[in-house]
Parts: sequence; structure tokens; C-alpha cells
Amino acid sequence: MRAAEVFLERFGSSPTVRSFAPGRIEFIGNHVDYNGGPVLGAAIDRGVEAAASIGTNGRVRLYSAHFGDVVEADLDRLAPLKGSAAWANYPLGVAWALAKHGCSVANGFNMVFDSDLPAGAGLSSSAAIELATATALNGLFDLKIERQDMARWCREAENEFAGMPCGILDQGTSAFGQAGRLVLIDCRNETFGTVPLPEALRFWIFNTGKKHALLDSLYATRRRECEEAFAVLRTFRPDAECLVDIQPEEVVLRRDELRPELYRRAMHIVNETQRVRSVSRALEKDDINAVGRLLVESHASSRDLFENSCAELDFLVERLVNLPEVYGARLTGGGFGGAVMAMTTARFSVESASPVMASYAKRFGIEPAVFSARTGDGSHVLAR
Ligand code: GLA
Repeated sequence: MRAAEVFLERFGSSPTVRSFAPGRIEFIGNHVDYNGGPVLGAAIDRGVEAAASIGTNGRVRLYSAHFGDVVEADLDRLAPLKGSAAWANYPLGVAWALAKHGCSVANGFNMVFDSDLPAGAGLSSSAAIELATATALNGLFDLKIERQDMARWCREAENEFAGMPCGILDQGTSAFGQAGRLVLIDCRNETFGTVPLPEALRFWIFNTGKKHALLDSLYATRRRECEEAFAVLRTFRPDAECLVDIQPEEVVLRRDELRPELYRRAMHIVNETQRVRSVSRALEKDDINAVGRLLVESHASSRDLFENSCAELDFLVERLVNLPEVYGARLTGGGFGGAVMAMTTARFSVESASPVMASYAKRFGIEPAVFSARTGDGSHVLAR
């Protein structure tokens, strides 16, 4: 990536700090994070690089190698931007969140971003920008922020400044990723660990290139539906702290109390929570076939119960799972478009996927972008 070069071109001096933060695959735990359950993600070897230097007079100057002009803002008057500058709400939101938590970046800063993550693919380019920003500022101003706080504050930036009501999956995975391991997040307590992955596994991403026009409002609607379902169910289980505390049998028992779509959303969340636990146990036993089956079940549940899949994602999953090198496949991330991830043997190649790509092109008129993703390390300083 070229963040340092572009920085020199734009700002006429070399950056003092460079940082990197990865994108992520949602391995399993679809929409479980903001319901307080466990989720598994993997940081990948693609992401966002930031190059930065300390600014003057509290001025923030941001430039992305991928979007238009330099965006400027004053630290003492930070407010979300609209239109073509809206991408800058992620780094500005991080500056805002740091200030909220008493971390001073008072002189301001200049920062340039470059990325090799496809935007809109459900691989969390926004979390990668946030973590790259926080990591660079941490280095630049010697803030000594704990990794756990970094993930939490970046999530706050996204929730409260950029206005997207996401959970902690993306920021937690981008912060805590490790090559060869999955990140296991306990989203109720916001604690982070990792679990090893068998070496022989590979991940492939199939980006439909499709993004629902109402993606953000659909996400918010699903979140609200989960809250509504929980409000009903908790009248029968007052001790429950969040939806994932309710057992599947209890949801079945209360079916008549819930509107049909709330029943489906709740069933997805409580079953998906169990699937995350089953995947962790299957990984401990190296039972990759069981993991693959659970990934496919997760997709079916997103499709039928959470209703956040789409024809393109379903088509890819159905065809991919018939290939002998594929253990399992599912939509990855928020859904309503985006990408499918497939977990495969090391023998899988672009050629293995070509019949699927050809039939997809015949049906939908374009080929999805396909690439292999290796697991990678979480956000870090590259040079200072
Ligand atoms: C998006 C959000 C995450 C998570 C997933 C769905 O990626 O940013 O917090 O809710 O969707 O699991």
C-alpha cells in the first residue's frame, strides 16, 4: 500500500507514524454481537494503512487514496459530515471518542489512508479505518491506550459519531486478530480471546458487489426487532440480561406471544448463539466437517429466520457447498448483499470456483469478485 507516498505527495513531508488495521471475516455469530452473545471472527491479510503526522492549531486534515479531496476539520468543532466527505466520519469519530475518554490529540493531525479492502463487501472497511486511525494516534501522541479500549472506543465512534448501531465484532476482530487464529469475543462483557485454526484451512471471499440501498436502516430495523423480541421474552424470564440468555425451547414456548417476524429473529439469535459454542467445541476436537456443517446451518438461519440474505448470496452458498474442497460457506457480516466466505481445503483454487462463477454470471449478469484471504494480525504500528 502507498499511504506514506501519498502522504508525501499531499502534505509535502514524510509521515511520522504508519499503522495498519485489518478487515475481517465474520466466521460465525450473525447479528449475535449486539444481543450479548459470543461471536467468532478472523482478521484477514488485507486492510487499511494510515500514515500520519502531528498537525497544528487543532486542525485535522484527512485524505484517502480512494475518495476525492482532503477533508479538513477543527478538533474543537467536530461534527459528522455528509455527502462525499462522509467516509471521514470514521477517523473524525475516533478523534471525537478519544477526546471523550480524555486522550488529547490537541495539536490536530494529518492522516492519509490507503486500503486493499473492497468497500461494501461486508469485510469491515469502516472498522479497519477506525482501528488504523486509533493505532496511528496512539503512536503519534503516545497515548498508551489498551487494545481493549481501542476496540470499544472505535465502536463508540461508529455508533455515536458515524451513526451506525453496530456491535463489537468488527472492531474487536480488527484489534485482536492473529494469523492462524480466530478471535472469540464475549460481547456481553466485551472481552477478547483467540482460538487456533487448523493450518490446512483456507478462506475464500466471493463479493457479490451488491449492496442494499437501505442497508443501514435494515440493520437498525433488525437490531430493533431483537430488542422488541427480548422485551416480550424477558417478561417470562426477568433474570435474563439479554436475548442470548433465553433458551431456544423457551422461545418456542412463547411463540404465540411474539409477532411472527419477532419469533423468527429471536429463534435465529438463540440458535446462532448455540452454533457459535458448537463451532468452538468442534474446533477443539479438530472436527472441521462439523464446523463446515454449522457454517451452512448458520447461513440457512440468516436466510430463513433473520431474513438478511439475498438471492445472490444464497446462490453462491448453495453452489459452493456442493464442491468437494468446500467445508462450508455462509454470508459474512451484516448481510442484505455483501460477500460469502467459504472455508475450504488447501486444494481449492479459482479454477475450482469457475463453474460456480459461470452459473452465477449466467443468472445475475456479472461475475462476483473472488479472492483468497489468509488470517492476519490485528491493528499495529508499522513504523514510527
Ligand atoms: C455488521 C456489524 C457487526 C455485526 C454484523 C452481523 O458487520 O458491524 O457489529 O452485527 O454486521 O453479525
